[in-house]
Amino acid sequence: MAILHLILGAAAYISLSAARLNAPHTSGACSKHDLGVLSCSSDSLTTDTCCVESPGGLLLLTQLYSATAGGPENTWTLHGLWNDYCNGSYPASCDNSRNYTDMAAILEDYDQQSLIDYMRVYWRNDPVITTTNGTDEELWEHEWAKHGTCMSTIRPSCYSNYTKHLELVQFLNEAVSLFKQLPSEEYLTACGIFPSNSTTYALADIEACFVRATGGYLPHIGCTGNILNELWYYYHLAGRVPHGTYVPTNTTYASTCPAKGIVYSPKPAS
Ligand SMILES: *[C@@H]1O[C@H](CO)[C@@H](O)[C@H](O)[C@H]1NC(C)=O
Ligand SMILES: *[C@@H]1O[C@H](CO)[C@@H](O)[C@H](O)[C@H]1NC(C)=O
Ligand SMILES: *[C@@H]1O[C@H](CO)[C@@H](O)[C@H](O)[C@H]1NC(C)=O
Ligand SMILES: *[C@@H]1O[C@H](CO)[C@@H](O)[C@H](O)[C@H]1NC(C)=O
Ligand SMILES: *[C@@H]1O[C@H](CO)[C@@H](O)[C@H](O)[C@H]1NC(C)=O
Ligand SMILES: *[C@@H]1O[C@H](CO)[C@@H](O)[C@H](O)[C@H]1NC(C)=O
Repeated sequence: MAILHLILGAAAYISLSAARLNAPHTSGACSKHDLGVLSCSSDSLTTDTCCVESPGGLLLLTQLYSATAGGPENTWTLHGLWNDYCNGSYPASCDNSRNYTDMAAILEDYDQQSLIDYMRVYWRNDPVITTTNGTDEELWEHEWAKHGTCMSTIRPSCYSNYTKHLELVQFLNEAVSLFKQLPSEEYLTACGIFPSNSTTYALADIEACFVRATGGYLPHIGCTGNILNELWYYYHLAGRVPHGTYVPTNTTYASTCPAKGIVYSPKPAS
């Protein structure tokens, strides 16, 4: 009896939470025109900021490559989804009242178990680069508080049927969805750039590899010393952070790697 109740309860709950996740947004409802306005364009300055990201109109999907972050062998992991200003500087921590905690419980509440499972493998804290000595959960909290709360199109007031944490759940989903479209380790190996401690690479070759893999766009390529460990892929966005159209663009931030002698180190699974 208890089990049957649980099953029926879960079934009813799934449809409710799925509906919540797909709930239409906006009080004023964005017009088709407004949803087609590209962030950082001059039109974006006069468009409802529930409908176009502004003033933080550069969206960055950032990745890490670090043994201390863990993840599967020789794979890049997700760092975050950021919005920079169009001039390359960036806002941070824009609404402390929405510094949410216990992301895993929130995702369970929204029936997002497969998202949590994926995040536990691919969205990993690096105790050196991201949050010092933090857990993966703390990285997710930090990324949301620092960057997610600055996104104009997912403010609670932009939803007509807002339920608590909906914008967070959409943010986490979008970050993972973009990450899945950017298999950096596959891009590199397709260019003959393999993890190795004995071979070094020139920045120009790594850059050319990403320009080819992305159809003409240059990400920010980051190193600590001569060790390759970060990638930031840039976009302009038409529409809202969830379900928007991400249009690739070039990095605004020069590489921090040396011109030659870059090491792409083998990374064990952990
Ligand atoms: C960059 O743009 C933001 C937002 O429009 C603005 O507040 C900031 O002053 C600008 N920074 C520079 C260096 O121009
Ligand atoms: C992080 O952990 C290291 C090793 O346990 C420790 O020495 C260091 O003090 C910790 N840092 C912080 C900021 O807690
Ligand atoms: C919210 O999170 C940001 C970024 O991690 C932090 O700087 C800020 O102090 C936090 N505010 C509160 C009230 O916890
Ligand atoms: C949104 O909320 C309004 C007002 O409570 C309600 O009439 C409408 O049916 C809701 N729409 C959806 C898709 O839940
Ligand atoms: C590569 O170098 C790193 C850093 O020195 C080291 O931790 C790792 O064990 C080396 N890996 C291999 C396969 O030699
Ligand atoms: C982006 O950068 C690449 C590589 O430098 C260059 O070929 C391309 O023209 C740039 N695209 C734009 C839109 O600036």
